[in-house]
Amino acid sequence: MTGARVRPAGRPVRGTARVPGDKSISHRAALVAALAEGISRIMGFSPAGDCTATLSVLESLGMAVDWRDGTLAIRGRSGRPFDPPASALDCGRSGTTMRLGAGMLAADRGPFELTGDPQLLARPMERVAVPLRAMGADVHTAADGRPPLRIRGGALIGIEYELPVASAQVKSAVLLAGLRADGETTVVEPVTTRDHTERLLAAAGIDVRTSRGRSTIRPGVPAAFDLDVPGDLSSAAVLLAAAALLPRSDLVVETVGLNPTRTGFVEVLRRMGAAVEVSPGTEGIEPSGELRVRHAALQAVAIGPKDVPGVIDELPLIGALATQAEGVTEVQGAGELRVKESDRIAGLVGGLRELGAETEELPDGFVVRGPVQLRGGRVDARSDHRLAMAFTLAGLVAAGPVAIEGVEFVGDSFPGFLRALEGLR
Ligand code: S3P
Repeated sequence: MTGARVRPAGRPVRGTARVPGDKSISHRAALVAALAEGISRIMGFSPAGDCTATLSVLESLGMAVDWRDGTLAIRGRSGRPFDPPASALDCGRSGTTMRLGAGMLAADRGPFELTGDPQLLARPMERVAVPLRAMGADVHTAADGRPPLRIRGGALIGIEYELPVASAQVKSAVLLAGLRADGETTVVEPVTTRDHTERLLAAAGIDVRTSRGRSTIRPGVPAAFDLDVPGDLSSAAVLLAAAALLPRSDLVVETVGLNPTRTGFVEVLRRMGAAVEVSPGTEGIEPSGELRVRHAALQAVAIGPKDVPGVIDELPLIGALATQAEGVTEVQGAGELRVKESDRIAGLVGGLRELGAETEELPDGFVVRGPVQLRGGRVDARSDHRLAMAFTLAGLVAAGPVAIEGVEFVGDSFPGFLRALEGLR
């Protein structure tokens, strides 16, 4: 495993930044384009490792993917089935690729095998297999419901499915399968999750309606679309968090996605006392705009189950911020963190403790008492990009250098992260 040393900042972060395209939107854009009729053009597609894994899967399915001069062009299959590939489809470390990919393929005979890196092979897949089976696909998981997924799809029927856990990935897999099912498909979610799939399908002419936690889709072939992918708020969040932490910081991130199902972190920064300005820009398929954050003394924050889907990927950053906030920060209802790229509760609490933080695990979250002067040391990011970014943040305010094992995995969501941070200091 390789690592990097983060040195205490000593300086504020100032200036204007842009971040790579939104990861969730990029995955969906590529998959819906693959199903659509005609050529879709996607500007600002994310270069993150997870999103290029989605493109590799499409290429292995025989699709031509043309990505040049910042535009990704994909000619869709217009309702024609996907042919079985010569070998297993490699989803890399991307859970979104595997889960949404399963939904995209469930109507076709296959067989398809979806596999990936050891880290992905440890993640739960029954959550997508269960509803896709109920729709009529034959979906096989390995021991303990883990990948690889083996799919022999077929004639699907629309279902009404109540999600046992709030998951945009599962919701999206069922909606993508619903595109090619007989009759309507409805997904009911316990707490609202990101709605990028619904927005994109509606823009592509599909009859999809969302109201009071129910998303209903009628079958159809999406029309080709042009999409500008805004910057990823989850990537912007780490730069904005650095601005909130470091005295005299004043940072603007431009053209970042402001979908209301994703802006929970902006609210949390405000509740913690940071000075945050939101300047909405264009309202396309996805809203975007500019975010400005200035440093302020931070206070602890309480996060409960209803807040969790809106900040699920930012919770490690919130843990790092909490070490410098006055009071007790408590995060509850976030048991899903245990089945992300790593067990993020154990990894975060273990790593922050190495650096001297006062923190403990809860079964479904964590507690952090602050403020504490962190010390330098060595932490293991467990090959997890979000933990690596949270520990980088901690390193900026530690008394000595912090060595992060596995920091290179930041490229799964934010290639060039360390350079981007360095450029602002
Ligand atoms: C994602 C949904 C979330 C999130 C993941 C991306 C998506 O996962 O953590 O990084 O693009 O739909 P779950 O749906 O499993 O909560």
